[in-house]
Amino acid sequence: MSKVLLVTGAAGFIGANFVLYWMEKYPEDKVIALDALTYAGNRANLAAVEDNTNFTFAHVNILDEPVIEALLKDHNVDTIVHFAAESHVDRSITEPDAFLETNIIGTHSLLKAARQVWIEKGLHPSDHRFHHVSTDEVYGTLSPTDPAFSETTPYAPNSPYAASKAASDHLVRSYHHTYGLQVSTSNCSNNYGPYHFPEKLIPLVITNILFNKALPIYGDGQQIRDWLYVEDHARGIDLVLEKGVVGETYNIGGINEWANIDIVKLICKLVDEYFANETELVQRFAKATAAIAGQSESLITYVKDRPGHDRRYAIDPTKANDILGYQPQESFETGIRKTIAWYLNNEQWWQAVMDGSYQDWVSKQYGQS
Ligand code: NAD
Ligand code: TYD
Repeated sequence: MSKVLLVTGAAGFIGANFVLYWMEKYPEDKVIALDALTYAGNRANLAAVEDNTNFTFAHVNILDEPVIEALLKDHNVDTIVHFAAESHVDRSITEPDAFLETNIIGTHSLLKAARQVWIEKGLHPSDHRFHHVSTDEVYGTLSPTDPAFSETTPYAPNSPYAASKAASDHLVRSYHHTYGLQVSTSNCSNNYGPYHFPEKLIPLVITNILFNKALPIYGDGQQIRDWLYVEDHARGIDLVLEKGVVGETYNIGGINEWANIDIVKLICKLVDEYFANETELVQRFAKATAAIAGQSESLITYVKDRPGHDRRYAIDPTKANDILGYQPQESFETGIRKTIAWYLNNEQWWQAVMDGSYQDWVSKQYGQS
């Protein structure tokens, strides 16, 4: 049976990739793409589906509960996939308020609207689903020898971002136990891929190489992250919606741990290779003198560490593998090449993103534009 999805944060990095994935795989389903279009939201990310008659864009803030209720009723929504969030750890350190507002109060506003429409008013009594998209950062940090995070690892968030996501996870859980809302939650590791906002490590490194700017490595660069190609995250959520048990949480990851300095060096090497093999890049990105010389690594600069910087994240995906049959399809080798190629071919996208208010924040943060 076809579904009607409300996807929040649909103009952001993962939300947009999810909508594109979903509409291609399930052309009969209707998708209401909701987004407040903050600095991180870009409607252009959804250009490929804008003309699809099963697609509707709603420029709405998740804090606006009456509007959400109206959307749920008017479109007969049966499934919410909730991505909308403030998502950048560094911003949460300098400006935490927006994280509490959107990630905690905003999630609660969505839960209240869903409860009103689906439970109190009795629409879709048996087949609704509220899927909450969360992060491995709620579990805190690991030492090099600790086992990876499983669904039973105690929560120990260390940044305001992680704390706000942890609070939202708890609220979602409570709406299941208290009101019977049919919820599921997925906690995923770091994503990478197309449409990733260039304040995050991987796109930041690629675009800085193209401007011949320093590649800032926080602290000693030995912090470890577990990277997953964004479409594999979308696949995981799809499986949770299809086979996941209501009230349960699932950790999604691809067992792919990298120290930051190693991933930055790998990107430098691959960008240098693209420049050596595709001569038109030399004309298109004339500023990228280090890459043109095959020396992008020379741009690496160690800078002051992030306060409270988590040392290591790693996801144990056993439950998703066993119960949902989840397996990522993209290897890191292919995924990172695809991602670099996407940024090289989509200069217009990231230039436009960087012309926006992002630049004001960058100037405040780093004293440069
Ligand atoms: P993003 O910052 O790229 O996108 C967030 C989107 O939410 C933007 O389009 C923004 O406009 C929108 N938004 C923000 N506040 C809103 C509000 N009040 N109302 C409506 N829309 C609002 O983030 P992302 O990287 O795509 O992350 C999406 C979700 O996935 C988040 O919940 C994040 O916690 C989670 N997550 C991210 C990662 C990752 O590596 N990026 C990993 C695991 C989980
Ligand atoms: P980020 O992409 O911000 O994701 P998260 O903090 O959610 O894991 O950062 C990934 C890692 O890269 C993290 O350990 C911080 C580090 N980092 C740098 O070393 N330099 C940078 O300029 C940025 C943005 C991140």
